[in-house]
Amino acid sequence: MGRLSRAGLRRAEVPGAFDVGAAAYDKLVGANPGYHDHLRISARRMRIADGGRGLRLLDAGCGTGASTAALLEAAPHAEIVAVDASAGMLEQARAKSWPDSVRFVHSPIEDFADTGKFDGILAAYLLRNLADPDAQLRRFAALLRPGATLAVHEYSVADSKSAQAIWTAVCWGIIIPAGLVKTRDTTLYRHLWRSVTSFDGAAALQRRMAAAGFTGVHSETMSGWQHGIVHTFLGEAQ
Ligand SMILES: C[S@@+](CC[C@H](N)C(=O)[O-])C[C@H]1O[C@@H](n2cnc3c(N)ncnc32)[C@H](O)[C@@H]1O
Repeated sequence: MGRLSRAGLRRAEVPGAFDVGAAAYDKLVGANPGYHDHLRISARRMRIADGGRGLRLLDAGCGTGASTAALLEAAPHAEIVAVDASAGMLEQARAKSWPDSVRFVHSPIEDFADTGKFDGILAAYLLRNLADPDAQLRRFAALLRPGATLAVHEYSVADSKSAQAIWTAVCWGIIIPAGLVKTRDTTLYRHLWRSVTSFDGAAALQRRMAAAGFTGVHSETMSGWQHGIVHTFLGEAQ
């Protein structure tokens, strides 16, 4: 089991921890009520026009493809580029069935570049795992066409004592024990707990997005136990 600081793993170690957890990832998130529905809600909140016809979308930190599937459902006609730094997570994603319009890229998001601009970016459970979220938000702004939407789908509990208590109870009562049973290693799941408890509150994350150049920044939460815990943060590139 790895050693963690108050903020979780060193961010350079995170993709490697996902390699370890990759084979169990889909089973674990499948047992989390609302996980897939909430990704679909965030993708719909991007309000992608005309089923994505003629549009290009980026799924940043696509993992095993759960967020890619949510984007595909919201925009079945779009071209989707899905990027992740974990070879193990991408192997799980690529083993699923996808239309030719979906392409997976193995790369740290920090190094990802593309010749064309994107008409929307979904970053689900990624931003809190990065060493420099502000720099990445600026890179996202540069990757988007003016007026295109960034949706950051994230856990954020710092603004609410009850959200913090529920998050800690769910992590230590369910997620960490389930991770131990499935992978014999709790590092990734303790990182999850700590990376969320040390991450921005909703107001601070909105300020980060605005400071990176996004306009119309706002957030909406989910229903279920994730109410006030999982949010979609939305903003438009200028
Ligand atoms: C919690 S998973 C979320 C996966 C997917 N978006 C979902 O909603 O199920 C976070 C993903 O971010 C990836 N990740 C973490 N740091 C990254 C980085 N610097 N560049 C690219 N991917 C990264 C991890 O490998 C992992 O697959």
